Amino acid sequence: MYQDKIIVNYENVPAYPIIFDKDFNGLTKALSSLGLNKRRFMIVSDSNVSKLYMEEVKSLISPIARSLTSFTFEAGESSKNLDTVSQVYELLIQEKFDRNDILIALGGGVTGDLTGFVAATYLRGIDFIQVPTTLLSMVDSSIGGKTGVDLNAYKNMIGAFHQPKLVHINLSALKSLPKREFNAGMAEIIKHGLIKDYNYYSFIHDNIDHILSLEYDLLKEMIYSSCLIKKDVVEKDPKEKGDRALLNFGHTIGHAIEKLMDFKLLHGECVALGMEAAAYISYKRDYINKDQFHHIIKTIKAFDLHVDIKALDPEKIYSVTKLDKKMESDKIKFILLNHIGEGFIDTSVSKDEMMAGIKFIQSY
Ligand SMILES: NC(=O)c1ccc[n+]([C@@H]2O[C@H](COP(=O)([O-])OP(=O)(O)OC[C@H]3O[C@@H](n4cnc5c(N)ncnc54)[C@H](O)[C@@H]3O)[C@@H](O)[C@H]2O)c1
Repeated sequence: MYQDKIIVNYENVPAYPIIFDKDFNGLTKALSSLGLNKRRFMIVSDSNVSKLYMEEVKSLISPIARSLTSFTFEAGESSKNLDTVSQVYELLIQEKFDRNDILIALGGGVTGDLTGFVAATYLRGIDFIQVPTTLLSMVDSSIGGKTGVDLNAYKNMIGAFHQPKLVHINLSALKSLPKREFNAGMAEIIKHGLIKDYNYYSFIHDNIDHILSLEYDLLKEMIYSSCLIKKDVVEKDPKEKGDRALLNFGHTIGHAIEKLMDFKLLHGECVALGMEAAAYISYKRDYINKDQFHHIIKTIKAFDLHVDIKALDPEKIYSVTKLDKKMESDKIKFILLNHIGEGFIDTSVSKDEMMAGIKFIQSY
């Protein structure tokens, strides 16, 4: 049964809680109970989320803070870079932040990755907490301590592992999230089911309409279960040396599409296309049967995640996958499905197989 809290361990020691709430009110209680009050706080957020939630969160944190300041950057992946990082450093120095002070990432994965990276590197590391407001950041990017920024067109090239002290999820924040962004988050959720848990995948498939109408109890159960899957993977492989790579299911081809489309598609949309291609390769290898393959495609399409990329040159998509940083001794670490609910790492996927997968997703 799902509860209001999950504890994530780091190197076998309890490291931080993920708290599930229906508003932001519990944030102050959570901070105080972790002894994270009476510090200087800086809330980092993007322009969209700031407009919606900054004042509310500020008014809640203010009574327990020694001082409180905020930084807002222009929303979007194009802000996830070292320039924005420098601007936050400047403000931290100006406000005389020291190692006892704390950053709050209020927003989606861009805000979390960027703020986490600042926290990992300012004064060789200060505390930070994640207050994720997109579906993707709730179930994926806020958990596991992967932080970082892009360098020009190289996504997540600069980064550090730095664990948050708390992840506070206000499920009601999803009500203001644009539908396209919500659906993009569903790609990561479907991914969790496909690589780790058949029952969870079925639960998603059986509840598509309830999920799309944002039924609170159902969303809570879905997000809780996805966080459990992510927790399990990152606890076993905190520095992505082995099984954590499973989370890259759909990402090899997905990242290539993302880059070639100049980041105009959402990350989740590109991952969904990559998952379709990987499912196709798994089907052609007879790991999953035709019905299972079609079932996966149907689920992805139910969340409007199949985007038309017919205009892209398939050879180009393939050649960009070879630039992926997740290469090992010149071999792409591709994630395939043994069956629905079990992904595995395969370094033997050939160019022909990849091209067939890419052509499949371009075929309709
Ligand atoms: N660290 C990790 O392990 C990890 C894992 C997956 C993805 N990521 C990264 O996460 C990023 C993508 O995250 P994302 O999809 O959350 O993007 P995002 O942070 O850009 O948010 C998407 C959009 O939604 C808006 N938004 C956020 N919350 C909102 C709300 N409640 N209401 C209305 N609008 C809201 C944002 O302003 C933005 O325009 C990428 O940079 C990706 O590389 C990191």
